[in-house]
Amino acid sequence: MKKEIIGVGLLGLGTVGSGVLQVFNRNGAAIRQKVGSKLEIRRIAVRDSQKDRAVAVSPELLVNNVNHVLDDPQIDIVVEVMGGVEQARLAVRRALENGKYVVTANKDLMAQHGTELLERARAAERNIFYEASVGGGIPLIRPLKHCLAANRIIRLMGIVNGTTNYILTQMTSAGKELEEALAEAQALGFAEADPSSDVEGRDAAYKLAILASLAFSSKINPGDIFVEGISGVKLRDIRYAQELGYAVKLLAIGRDTAEGLVLRVHPALIPLAHPLAAVSNEFNAVFLEGDAVGEVMFYGRGAGSLPTASAVCADIIDAARTIRHEVDNGIVEITFSPRPVVPLPKQFSSFYLRLKAKDQPGVFASLATAFGDARVSLDMIIQKRSDAQTAEIVLVTHEVEEARFAGALEVISALPTIRSINSVLRVI
Ligand SMILES: NC(=O)c1ccc[n+]([C@@H]2O[C@H](COP(=O)([O-])OP(=O)(O)OC[C@H]3O[C@@H](n4cnc5c(N)ncnc54)[C@H](OP(=O)(O)O)[C@@H]3O)[C@@H](O)[C@H]2O)c1
Repeated sequence: MKKEIIGVGLLGLGTVGSGVLQVFNRNGAAIRQKVGSKLEIRRIAVRDSQKDRAVAVSPELLVNNVNHVLDDPQIDIVVEVMGGVEQARLAVRRALENGKYVVTANKDLMAQHGTELLERARAAERNIFYEASVGGGIPLIRPLKHCLAANRIIRLMGIVNGTTNYILTQMTSAGKELEEALAEAQALGFAEADPSSDVEGRDAAYKLAILASLAFSSKINPGDIFVEGISGVKLRDIRYAQELGYAVKLLAIGRDTAEGLVLRVHPALIPLAHPLAAVSNEFNAVFLEGDAVGEVMFYGRGAGSLPTASAVCADIIDAARTIRHEVDNGIVEITFSPRPVVPLPKQFSSFYLRLKAKDQPGVFASLATAFGDARVSLDMIIQKRSDAQTAEIVLVTHEVEEARFAGALEVISALPTIRSINSVLRVI
């Protein structure tokens, strides 16, 4: 017999949980029509049940203990929107053991323990839905699992962290240095009090791990991803990049090559004509290339209460349809075979380099010789500005093996004419 009422339990009623409740309050009737059963939120676990909430909620729904949700036989779908890793991991395991479907927005959890949890879900004949874990409201997980499933994904490249994109946009458009743009992002709620995970690129690396595991059907260890954040990006580099026809963006990049997977997160100069260069402020976008579909781009709000709730509620609807129609709703994607990851020194990049040199004849020639000797070919070399004794030089290389460029940089740093290496950024 079809289940007419499907019970939903929430773990967490913060930014995302409140949005989920709002979407249910707003669109509950339409959601019921789409599923065929009524979805009823039966319990919500929070830390402090006395706290004022951003959304109206009956006090009797609130409990202080996650087990009151996880062990409730009237709850069919557990929605983990409390964050953290260990507690969330234990909660998801227990939910699966108790026969429940799980929806989570938790990228840290899925990047670090996704494979284990999905295996447990498969063993329990249940599923974990995690659309909101990457790109907030932007559909990414489902397109990769379903719509693009026939493709071999050749590469993906994305702006998957709204905080750093906001900061870089403000640096570019308002001429602010990073510290000022970060303080503004914090004041506006786009950056957390401790922004290190965003600024240092770890958040983007977790999201890349999730996307790349689906795109390349491989188990990805986030520790295998090369990560460099934006803390070294200076306003001056953004200005020079603009003059050269580039925007500076924090990019998450995955590529399927004959040598293995290339996985990296770093700030990069990207041509102004590339669609990702126009993705501003807190917006996110992911650009994919499949062997059949060609290029596809997904764009939208990568975080925030309602955009993230949009993805969480879609997952709840998917889980509910699975229950209502007793079908395996395109689940279990975990036939992941581990693929080798190309070590950074063996990867290829073009580089932007800003340095200071003695303002004297022969400096360009010594740089060109040093790069030439290291077999690094230069795309352009420009003298930017000088004072009495110092010349600032910006140069861009052609694509070169990372190890070869690092070797050339070491030689150049030691040249008697070079005063300092000020910036090294990669170029797309
Ligand atoms: N915020 C976004 O835009 C966004 C976007 C995408 C994904 N996510 C992910 O969504 C998850 C939730 O984020 P959020 O921003 O909504 O977090 P949040 O605002 O800090 O809310 C967390 C909620 O979980 C509750 N909670 C925390 N630990 C708990 C515990 N041990 N037992 C019971 N309840 C507990 C808190 O209770 P109290 O309210 O009583 O403190 C709070 O209601 C995270 O994994 C995050 O990475 C967030």
